[in-house]
Amino acid sequence: MLKENPVILGIESSCDETAAAVIRGRQLLSDEIISSASVQALYGGVVPEIASRAHTDAVDEVVARALNSAGIRKEELDAVAVTYGAGLLGALLVGLSFAKGLSFGLKIPLIGVNHIRGHLAACYLEDRTLKPPFITLLASGGHTAVIYVKSETEFEVLGATRDDAAGEAFDKVARILSLPYPGGPHVERLAREGNPVVPFPKMLKGLGGYDFSYSGLKTAVINYVHTKEQKGEPWSKADVACSFQHAALDILAEKAVEGAREKGVCTVTAGGGVIANGYLREILEKRCNAAGFKLVIPEKRHCTDNAAMIAAEGLLQYRAGNFAPYSLNAEACIPLR
Ligand code: KG4
Ligand code: ZN
Repeated sequence: MLKENPVILGIESSCDETAAAVIRGRQLLSDEIISSASVQALYGGVVPEIASRAHTDAVDEVVARALNSAGIRKEELDAVAVTYGAGLLGALLVGLSFAKGLSFGLKIPLIGVNHIRGHLAACYLEDRTLKPPFITLLASGGHTAVIYVKSETEFEVLGATRDDAAGEAFDKVARILSLPYPGGPHVERLAREGNPVVPFPKMLKGLGGYDFSYSGLKTAVINYVHTKEQKGEPWSKADVACSFQHAALDILAEKAVEGAREKGVCTVTAGGGVIANGYLREILEKRCNAAGFKLVIPEKRHCTDNAAMIAAEGLLQYRAGNFAPYSLNAEACIPLR
């Protein structure tokens, strides 16, 4: 029999964060992360084999910590939810195998979670009264989209990036500016010291609709920096970071609010690593306030990869009775559907 407020353990290992969290219904009881980002930074990006090994070393401990700080014995768990994709295959398999072992040993259901749906679900923990329908702005390292969430398990993609994702663009621009991995937070920090004075193009601004494109903006940044260097002219890294940030993010906030207006909903939510950006949070708030919409954004640590969001999506799947067989495999790519 399904419980109203089940205790669910979430496990996430799709990239360089090994994470575990426990929820009871929509109440977050614990939330633990062991990250290999500082090791990956030495290589300028995530090295899959290093990530897999780091997950293998960390998964036992991070789950033990999550159970401990939640004050929950493993026998009290009602289900285990785990990311099965999208992500690095070797990395995903560590969390997935661990979750299968727990599920089998404890005789509790296994729930396979699509990482992107996890990012969308993080807002349910932020506001425990939140109910669809609403518009979600998704902006992560691999996806950028405006999504109409019709119910807890049904959504419609109104528009998405045609090339790079927002986070990917931040990471590439960071590299152009010789900033370390992961680029987003470093670009944001530098942007605070600059002004939006470089006239970079805003992506697809004139085209309407909800699709995004970051390749033109990225090329404009590369061209600007190369031209300045070739001519030996002075230029400000901080101004480039700030101008790029404005060009990349203004349109996201604009389109999210436009989506809410078009669909006739009065709530906007957001998820994904780029939503941790302070400037984006600020303009989303301004635009939503001006339009009279309610804005629900997860706290910053629940925007970047974490296991609380995996447990939250696990809860939606639990309520829908969507349990996974032990044949569930890891998937590197899952289309946004
Ligand atoms: O959602 P996420 O943690 O992982 C994926 O599922 O992709 O997103 C990671 C992305 C990276 O590209 C990172 O540079 C970006 O989110 N990011 C940021 C910020 N923090 C993380 N981008 C802009 N500003 C930030 N503060
Ligand atoms: Zn993610």
